[in-house]
Amino acid sequence: MVYRAYAREAPVPQPLAFSHRTHSGENAIPCLYCHAYARLGPAAGVPSVERCVGCHITAAKDHVDVVKLMEHWEKKEPIRWVRVHHLPEYVRFNHKRHVVAGVQCQVCHGEVQRMDAAVQVSDMTMGWCLSCHEERGASIDCLTCHY
Ligand code: HEC
Ligand code: HEC
Ligand code: HEC
Ligand code: HEC
Ligand code: HEC
Repeated sequence: MVYRAYAREAPVPQPLAFSHRTHSGENAIPCLYCHAYARLGPAAGVPSVERCVGCHITAAKDHVDVVKLMEHWEKKEPIRWVRVHHLPEYVRFNHKRHVVAGVQCQVCHGEVQRMDAAVQVSDMTMGWCLSCHEERGASIDCLTCHY
């Protein structure tokens, strides 16, 4: 089965109303504070409940979704965030290489700091990868991206 990645316009429903606009827009929390693995390895990762609680012991603690967050913390239950982006499994992608090369998150993910839940804005097809690789002199060898 070929599993293609398509641009989505509507946010996927998430278990908790997390807003990038509140956190990275209004409160200027850096992307890497929550997606720390993006500069360390292939996947960017989503933050643990513990990371959220570090601030929410005090911040907005009466908000209904923060109350939900604290319930997860008390029960030691991870939040099951629904994955937005999916590349087919035969494609090799690595955040670290891009982040270290200075490609901003927004070039590939759009103005996330203006979104509530994250939405996929690039189609993430092979043509999309290749056109930037050609433009920036990165490798276009098949085996760079395919196993
Ligand atoms: C306070 C923590 C926090 C900060 C700061 C943050 N994020 Fe997120 N991010 C999350 C959480 C939680 C999710 C899962 C919910 C969702 O998809 O919206 C997520 C999801 C995402 C996704 C979708 C991942 C997927 O499922 O495919 C992208 C892309 C993303 N963030 C990019 C960014 C960028 C770019 C920034 C900086 C502008 C940023 N994030 C800042 C917590 C954070
Ligand atoms: C060169 C383009 C590019 C850049 C730059 C980039 N991403 Fe991604 N990101 C992707 C692609 C492609 C995927 C889907 C990967 C997959 O499905 O295997 C993805 C997936 C994600 C995910 C969800 C899956 C995961 O990897 O855990 C998060 C969260 C995310 N990116 C956050 C970020 C953040 C934060 C930054 C900046 C620090 C960033 N990305 C920079 C292309 C990019
Ligand atoms: C670095 C500190 C910090 C971290 C980490 C953090 N938050 Fe927040 N959060 C805030 C601040 C500041 C506000 C805004 C508070 C206000 O306006 O009174 C906020 C607001 C919220 C709200 C209320 C709704 C809104 O958008 O105003 C929710 C829900 C929330 N955060 C969930 C989360 C979740 C889930 C995580 C972990 C994925 C998280 N937060 C991580 C600082 C943080
Ligand atoms: C910079 C990364 C990159 C390079 C280099 C690359 N590909 Fe791809 N390729 C992708 C991505 C991402 C997909 C999945 C998205 C899609 O189908 O467009 C893909 C999909 C494919 C598919 C499946 C297409 C389909 O419609 O099912 C084939 C076949 C393929 N690539 C062959 C190649 C060959 C042959 C080369 C060398 C000439 C190559 N790729 C080089 C990223 C790349
Ligand atoms: C906006 C520009 C841009 C986009 C889009 C982009 N890349 Fe890249 N990519 C780069 C740059 C620049 C480098 C070179 C980094 C370096 O020199 O270390 C790179 C390097 C890589 C590498 C490491 C190459 C090596 O020599 O080991 C892989 C793997 C890769 N990209 C895969 C992908 C895939 C798969 C996609 C699409 C899903 C993609 N990239 C989309 C800019 C981009």
